[in-house]
Amino acid sequence: MNKKTVRDIDLKGKKVIVRCDFNVPQDENGNITDNRRIVSALPTIQYLLEQNCKIILCSHLGRPKGEVKPEFSLAPVAKELSRLLDQEVKLAKDVVGEDATRLANELKEKEVILLENVRFEKGEEKNDPELAKKFAQMAEVFVNDAFGTAHRAHASTAGIADYLPAVSGFLIEKELNFLGETVNNPKRPFVAILGGKKVSDKIGVIDSLLEKVDTLMIGGAMAYTFFRSMGYSVGNSICEEDKLDLAQSLMKKAEEKGVKFMLPVDTKVGKEFSKDTESKIVKYTEIPDGWEGFDIGTETIEMYKKELQKAATVLWNGPVGLFEFDQFAVGTNEIAKTLAEIDAVTVIGGGDSAAAIEKAGLSDKMTHISTGGGASLEFLEGKKLPGIECLMDK
Ligand code: 3PG
Repeated sequence: MNKKTVRDIDLKGKKVIVRCDFNVPQDENGNITDNRRIVSALPTIQYLLEQNCKIILCSHLGRPKGEVKPEFSLAPVAKELSRLLDQEVKLAKDVVGEDATRLANELKEKEVILLENVRFEKGEEKNDPELAKKFAQMAEVFVNDAFGTAHRAHASTAGIADYLPAVSGFLIEKELNFLGETVNNPKRPFVAILGGKKVSDKIGVIDSLLEKVDTLMIGGAMAYTFFRSMGYSVGNSICEEDKLDLAQSLMKKAEEKGVKFMLPVDTKVGKEFSKDTESKIVKYTEIPDGWEGFDIGTETIEMYKKELQKAATVLWNGPVGLFEFDQFAVGTNEIAKTLAEIDAVTVIGGGDSAAAIEKAGLSDKMTHISTGGGASLEFLEGKKLPGIECLMDK
């Protein structure tokens, strides 16, 4: 990585503002259901504690759109951080207001506070320089460790770097090393599995991966647009009629590049979008009218498994079926199990595929699970991430 990290500057005793991505899922009672993003921020926080820093943490949670909404409070995160760090992490009542300023002023070495949800401020998502300045006035150094939000140019992720020395934390460094190494210097054969609903969401990443992989496997609802582009009927399956030419051109590019482009050969279809709906497995050429495809079929699972067993590097982004419903989670679970078993570098590109691996209880069997959904996708597409671009060069 060509950006400075916390290791590259003197932080001893300094007051540091750290942007984290504590955008964690919660149940209806506000209990955090997956604390991975909080745990992933700990190495940086612990390092800053060792440097006797005064630590101001900040993050967004959800999309409150510039309004103060109690259901988007970071209170559960402050509680979880206090538990994980085994020391009190006080939550400010506001973001850059009176309470936050007072707590920041009173901070002593080795103390940690958390500001309220930065998206309670209208200027956050607009990258308002006035707000960025207010964040900056609280501290002497800006540390960005919010990889999951690095694709957003917001006041607390990018704007603030105009007013303070800005370096990355260990999580951003680790994410860039894993994702960068995987796509730029993979052990071969290099296989990518791409799932998800729409081809249009993944065009950039398919296009960019076709330059790098040996095999590209398609799963998820995206597959039906490819089938349709080959002239087959897809029943009620999700299909982007205006992307049929694009689907064809991606397959053509794969052929030109010598990339093995794999589509499902069978699919599990359901009568309707519900967890207990009647379902059956059919050939991809024989999806009946009135039925909707929700998962890859048994033959496809076997075919994909065989290919994965030969891989030295696997990158997975997007579930291959509607994994939220058990009967359509089979394909996704089988892919997850296969990745857990094979002797290969396995990198999971965040978002729903990370949630699926977590649900299958196989997280610790993967080489790296990204904490970024949208951010990892944009990185894999080769886009520049504003939250990283704004940091000081090495
Ligand atoms: C995410 O969950 O992908 C990040 O926290 C970014 O959230 P956003 O899409 O609301 O900006």
